Amino acid sequence: MTADGPEGQEPTRDAGSTPIPVGAPGRRNAPEPQPGDDDHVVTVFAAVGGQPFFDHLVERFYAHVATDDVLLRLYPEKVDLGPAAERLALFLGQYWGGPTTYSDRRGHPRLRMRHAPFTIGAEERDHWLAAMLEALEATLPESPLDDELRGQVRGQMTAYFEMAADAMVNAPD
Ligand code: HEM
Repeated sequence: MTADGPEGQEPTRDAGSTPIPVGAPGRRNAPEPQPGDDDHVVTVFAAVGGQPFFDHLVERFYAHVATDDVLLRLYPEKVDLGPAAERLALFLGQYWGGPTTYSDRRGHPRLRMRHAPFTIGAEERDHWLAAMLEALEATLPESPLDDELRGQVRGQMTAYFEMAADAMVNAPD
């Protein structure tokens, strides 16, 4: 941790790019490697089909935000959520192992600092999380994952969003 100071919970560590095993039948009891086999390990980003997955996820999330008064009152660009949607989609793509376009454009995420201007309590967190988990459920079927891996990705992303939403609370009751 560097300039984030005491933000011990900053949810932007690189663990999102932790590879998951994909594409090998019987992954748990890994078969003998075959000549020419790749290692069957890819990032979550690649496994879900790359940036379009995150674009669609965030599109759905912001469609929900646009109808949610609790969330909408926080957004400074509420007339046009497009720029906010692009930032979030690029951030999530990067977090889960994609290209670093977000950081190239915006610098270090410093999400807690960037959220400091907004009053985020339990109500805001719950609305944010509900909108994101609903969007996730709607988007997962589009991914090219088999049922088992889809379950794993759902679990990892749900845990991440729960942790990250908690970390963004800056106005505890
Ligand atoms: C817990 C409730 C949350 C609320 C109410 C909230 C609200 C907001 C608001 C109002 C903005 C400014 C919109 C804009 O970009 O112009 C924003 C930006 C952003 N939020 Fe959240 N957020 C929450 C949680 C999260 C979480 C959990 C993440 C990540 C997993 C996240 C990621 C981002 C990103 C990447 C930006 C753009 C930052 C930038 O580059 O400027 N937010 N959020």
